[in-house]
Amino acid sequence: METKLLKANEESIKLACELIKQGEVVGVPTETVYGLAGDCNNSDAIKKIFLAKGRPQDNPLIVHISNMNMLNNLVSNVPTDAKILAEKFWPGPLTIIMPKGKNICDETCAGLDSVGIRMPLNRVAREIIEKSGIPFSAPSANISGKPSPTCAQDVYNDMKGKIPLIIDDGTSDAGIESTVISVLNEKPIILRPGIITKEMIELALGKEVLIAKEVTAGVENDSKVLSPGMKYKHYSPNAEVIILNGEIDKFINYVKNNKKEKTAVLCYDGEEELFDIPAISYGKKDDDYSQAHNLFSSLRKLDEMGVTLVFARCPKTSGVSLAVYNRLIRSAGFKVINI
Ligand code: TXA
Ligand code: MG
Repeated sequence: METKLLKANEESIKLACELIKQGEVVGVPTETVYGLAGDCNNSDAIKKIFLAKGRPQDNPLIVHISNMNMLNNLVSNVPTDAKILAEKFWPGPLTIIMPKGKNICDETCAGLDSVGIRMPLNRVAREIIEKSGIPFSAPSANISGKPSPTCAQDVYNDMKGKIPLIIDDGTSDAGIESTVISVLNEKPIILRPGIITKEMIELALGKEVLIAKEVTAGVENDSKVLSPGMKYKHYSPNAEVIILNGEIDKFINYVKNNKKEKTAVLCYDGEEELFDIPAISYGKKDDDYSQAHNLFSSLRKLDEMGVTLVFARCPKTSGVSLAVYNRLIRSAGFKVINI
């Protein structure tokens, strides 16, 4: 199949709508990362998404809407917490897990009786939903296990020949995927951290919000988890990644003593010169938004360099940094060394 890569404009958006209506899969921009979009109620379209990504069958997709009326048939009821959060954070990078409604096929939810919904902020994504009249299911548009794509070229590299169209709307603003929160129970619980933090959500709801323990820890492969996505290897470049938790002087020493052939460093802006091996920055040291914005593209750069071992600086675990930490420890297969 030929994969068209078109700049976002009226014509390409129209083509995207037609393809989605026909049950095809389209690479689309969002404000978090690029997604692979297909009609949320068309089993064949959703099967194509799983196939293109090589995604495990038990990992459900997020449904994207462009206005609140669309919620009616997608969920069986809107819990009070969901109403408050939607009012406060939509459109934006927050996915809310609610009870599944009737107009979503089982493939989207991987057989669960709940569904994750979000209203993206990106104008192109919203126009595609609005003009097609179809809420789309969309996982991140990477091959399963690889870093999520933050530009159209990343999508092209992973999906060339597998999907008919990718819409290019420049670099994704956030750079990491949406916060995922479940409001199915009395105590809301964050299943995946993101730009919308626990503190922001607690302030909006006026009550305590839990964080799933898997957010900062590994998961046994066959164990039951609240969010299936948590148990899979994720965001991994081809190289082995090891996070070193400690100050820069110790980091430099550790790298000097433990580097092998084809080793690189994943560091903060301005630190690149401190190493005698290749170093890529993933953002400013005390700016968690810039780290979120750059992390996945930096991981992809390391792949392009062909390195086999990467030593990474360790992010903090508060605020937006928790989301960066959550992605980086998964890309490192949970290998963190305290130095
Ligand atoms: O920012 C985003 O959320 C991007 C853009 C494209 O919107 N999408 C995205 O989708 O990151 P994906 O499929 O890569 O991640 C969805 C995550 C997975 O970890 C999945 O397990 C979880 O959300 N999820 C989806 N539906 C769920 C449900 N009903 N219950 C629990 N977890 C769910
Ligand atoms: Mg993903």
